[in-house]
Amino acid sequence: MEIILGILTAVSTAAGAIGGTYTVTGIVVKHLREWARGQKTSRVLEFMDKLGLRSEAEVRHAVENWSFPKGFTEENTRELITLLSNLVRGARFHSTNGTPLSSYMRCEHLIEQLLQNVQPRRRAGEKIQSWQLKSFLGMGSFGEVWRAENPLYPESHVFKFFTREGARDWLRREAGALKAVRGCLADCPNVVEYLDVAIDAEPDPYLVLGYAEKGSLEDWILRRPDDRFPLNPTEVMRGIVRGVAEGHRHNIFHRDLKPANVLLTGDGEPIPKVADFGLSTVETKTESQSSLRSEMVLVGTRTYHPPEASDPFKKRHPAQDDVFALGVIWYQLLTSELLRPPYDFVERLSSTTGVDSRTVKMISRCLAHPDRRYPTASELFADLDVDAPPGPGEWTVPAGCFEVAGIAREYLEQRMR
Ligand SMILES: Nc1ncnc2c1ncn2[C@@H]1O[C@H](COP(=O)(O)OP(=O)(O)OP(=O)(O)O)[C@@H](O)[C@H]1O
Ligand SMILES: [Mg+2]
Repeated sequence: MEIILGILTAVSTAAGAIGGTYTVTGIVVKHLREWARGQKTSRVLEFMDKLGLRSEAEVRHAVENWSFPKGFTEENTRELITLLSNLVRGARFHSTNGTPLSSYMRCEHLIEQLLQNVQPRRRAGEKIQSWQLKSFLGMGSFGEVWRAENPLYPESHVFKFFTREGARDWLRREAGALKAVRGCLADCPNVVEYLDVAIDAEPDPYLVLGYAEKGSLEDWILRRPDDRFPLNPTEVMRGIVRGVAEGHRHNIFHRDLKPANVLLTGDGEPIPKVADFGLSTVETKTESQSSLRSEMVLVGTRTYHPPEASDPFKKRHPAQDDVFALGVIWYQLLTSELLRPPYDFVERLSSTTGVDSRTVKMISRCLAHPDRRYPTASELFADLDVDAPPGPGEWTVPAGCFEVAGIAREYLEQRMR
């Protein structure tokens, strides 16, 4: 309706002004074209403004942290960052004669996906008590996550809003577990702090968390090697395992460990902090939710599940599930790929520079059959914490792996008979 009124106003104004030199149809077409031309750019700009993305750095940080549907490649992300950064600097999607810019044509479907998949309910600038939402950090399976500032505090805090249906009831049921996490893990330097829990807040309940300014370990792995800040994989793993072991010591299990739930902070050597302790049992998926997102949540999580998890009748210990996930994260950190370790992970790791045989042994014990896997993260931490020199250079077959030399010998003997 608004468009039609706009066109009619434009037609009558233009017709009056130019005294009938142009046809009315021509004016309508021209106006429609202009309207369409401004439309997409302004929609995206309004969307970015809502998210608090007003500089190139903010665009880069946000886009690198967003969870995109399956099929979104690193190249797509880079293109999107370039296009959105140009928009922030004042560019438009269309050239002055109204034809779409080629960079926009390439990104058109990405922009559509972006507008559909990342539609937060909050807006930059919104106030939550004395905190002001500054920038959108991402959207997870619970809802949306924002960085907020308060003039009375030197450090930013993070607000995690639970926007999914049924989340408030779930939070109420799990309030005891969250309280235990707050009470037992508050002092651990490798666990993200829960600063506040607002279950009755309107319109959505939220958690207030400490802010980790260096993003997640997943972001780090997904960066191009040149763009990564320096990080010592053993030190990072030591920190993550310390955080998880502290949970296990109090009978608190994470159940959703993955690089996206490890956040990095600190001025020098990055300090890892485990996020989302106590949140893994949340029932987040509803029928109405995008199937892409649900599928991604499932796929993403399965990568870190041990093989025995595929048998619903098998009794498992949650601490060993966490240990398996730690092994996967460690493998991914060393190989810089978000893949599940393949059968020949030992060979792959041994040919990766800077990986010693002791590390491979520990990873193998994380990924081994439950009978040979570390029972909890505490035993893994004890192994990691020993400052033993790297092995003598001779590769031993780690527990839980096939002794391929014997199999090969047997095969050759059979062939030669
Ligand atoms: N405390 C924090 N400090 C900085 N960034 C954070 C913090 N908590 C979350 N984020 C960022 O916000 C984004 C969304 O986090 P969220 O936990 O909702 O989703 P996720 O970890 O991708 O998936 P899941 O919902 O399964 O945990 C992530 O990209 C994460 O890096
Ligand atoms: Mg998370």
